[in-house]
Amino acid sequence: MLKEKTVLIMGIRNKWSIAYGAAQAAYENGAKLIFTFMGEENREKIEELISEFEGSKAYTCDASKDEELVELFTKIKAEYGKINGILHSIAHANTQDLRNDFINTSKEGFAHANDVSAYSLVATCRIAKELDVLSDNASIVAVTYYGSTKVLEGYNVMGVAKAALECSIRYLASNLGPEGIRVNAISAGPIKTLSAKGIKDFNSILDVVEEKAPLRRNVTTKEVGNAVTFMLSDMSRAITGQVVYADSGYSIMGI
Ligand SMILES: NC(=O)c1ccc[n+]([C@@H]2O[C@H](COP(=O)([O-])OP(=O)(O)OC[C@H]3O[C@@H](n4cnc5c(N)ncnc54)[C@H](O)[C@@H]3O)[C@@H](O)[C@H]2O)c1
Repeated sequence: MLKEKTVLIMGIRNKWSIAYGAAQAAYENGAKLIFTFMGEENREKIEELISEFEGSKAYTCDASKDEELVELFTKIKAEYGKINGILHSIAHANTQDLRNDFINTSKEGFAHANDVSAYSLVATCRIAKELDVLSDNASIVAVTYYGSTKVLEGYNVMGVAKAALECSIRYLASNLGPEGIRVNAISAGPIKTLSAKGIKDFNSILDVVEEKAPLRRNVTTKEVGNAVTFMLSDMSRAITGQVVYADSGYSIMGI
């Protein structure tokens, strides 16, 4: 599905990352991969992790800093020319804002979660566009969660950030659509990643999905990656501005 496509995967941290599952799926479907990760001190670990994806390369990028995004896309343009897709698999909130009641979220914590988890997608799209890195019919995909529309204890400010992310997807899809560029989100079911460990009682969320979701099981990063691959591919050419759930069907249930 992604033969002859170059895809930028933003937000790989380890083999449990959704970005890693997405990389596996995209690579199996023929994509050439570029990665971003946080912190130059992690380079060796990341390069070892992505060594299975032949011809791939990794760049550090703090996506909350526009100047780092400019540097990233300038380098990508010089090395690869235009790219066909971007996966934004990035989020962060301060731990205390996931531990305390939502009502106690600080102004700084609210701004931080929204900046890193939602605004970074807007900046990524704008800077990639301005630097002319996106090919015709490019596809941009972000990863979101059900906590954007429903209250889940402990998800707190991250739910607000995901709501902002999902709404941004619609506005970005509208802005970029006339040029053939699509923007969508995959809403992944809960998966035990490093980020998920920050959420209070995360194991009980996994248990409820297993018990109540139509498919009676949790999802894997590879399954989410398969959905991402579809969204990055021409098979989804008529879809933009959407949030598509890859969650064993949990989100359709009432109680
Ligand atoms: N794990 C889940 O249950 C789940 C469910 C639905 C959606 N998601 C979303 O999936 C995405 C990936 O998360 P994950 O669960 O794979 O966890 P993860 O910890 O493996 O990935 C999160 C990534 O965000 C990166 N990041 C944080 N701040 C950044 C910044 N300022 N600039 C650049 N990168 C930054 C981290 O370095 C890390 O690579 C996130 O958007 C998350 O909200 C996760």
